[in-house]
Amino acid sequence: TSYWVIVPAAGAGKRMGADKPKQYLPLSGKPLIAHTLENILHWPGLKGIVVAIAADDTEFATLRCAQDARIQTVTGGAERADSVLAALDYLSEREAPETSILVHDAARPLVRVADIRKLLAAAPMALLAQPASDTVKLSQTRGGKTEVRETLPRDQIWLAQTPQKAPLGKLRETLLQGLAENSTAITDEASALERAGFHPELVAACRSNFKITHPADLLLAEALLQHRAV
Ligand code: CTP
Ligand code: MG
Repeated sequence: TSYWVIVPAAGAGKRMGADKPKQYLPLSGKPLIAHTLENILHWPGLKGIVVAIAADDTEFATLRCAQDARIQTVTGGAERADSVLAALDYLSEREAPETSILVHDAARPLVRVADIRKLLAAAPMALLAQPASDTVKLSQTRGGKTEVRETLPRDQIWLAQTPQKAPLGKLRETLLQGLAENSTAITDEASALERAGFHPELVAACRSNFKITHPADLLLAEALLQHRAV
């Protein structure tokens, strides 16, 4: 079964603190986002990619893969969910509501194709995730201090990654509804699906599929890419 991939790439990369959005920073000789897109172009059954880029983006068009006929762009929005919705709007005018969609962060260049195969074989709503390795504390603030409220059962804690998979129509409906009700709670696709009563399947993925967020993450990604190349 074929599917479309949506790549939100309209963020500013504030936590990276660089002079341009992190998706355009160099990583092993080419922009981070070029690694991500070239990786996706090898996924089995791919129909095409819709990349959401910032309204003032001047860099995307300079990428070599921007010329690939399988890659389209749309203008993203203020939050990640708005960027994903812009791409869903584009696709909903062209594809049936049952069409499978995989949303994958531009900032995750290292996802493995073996994990993509597992995700494709999972339930129609599913996401890659990593079982927590640290003990997880739920916090509360009291008297100006942040303190432990309780320790969550670690064997039930998963850290969400991307891609996150869902049918086009349901994903668009639930994201629109989630944003209208409580936009700050919608930090990934699964959170919108959950609010609507769905329970996406968790698919254990390699921890190298981390999201490049802070400066040290670039160094780690570079080391992993070099390791893979040998
Ligand atoms: N993203 C997007 N549109 C936004 C915000 C984020 O398309 N309005 C994208 C980012 O470009 C990134 C992905 O969503 O590929 C995950 O978001 P995140 O890691 O938070 O990236 P940024 O928002 O750019 O970084 P920061 O939160 O540090 O500013
Ligand atoms: Mg962000």
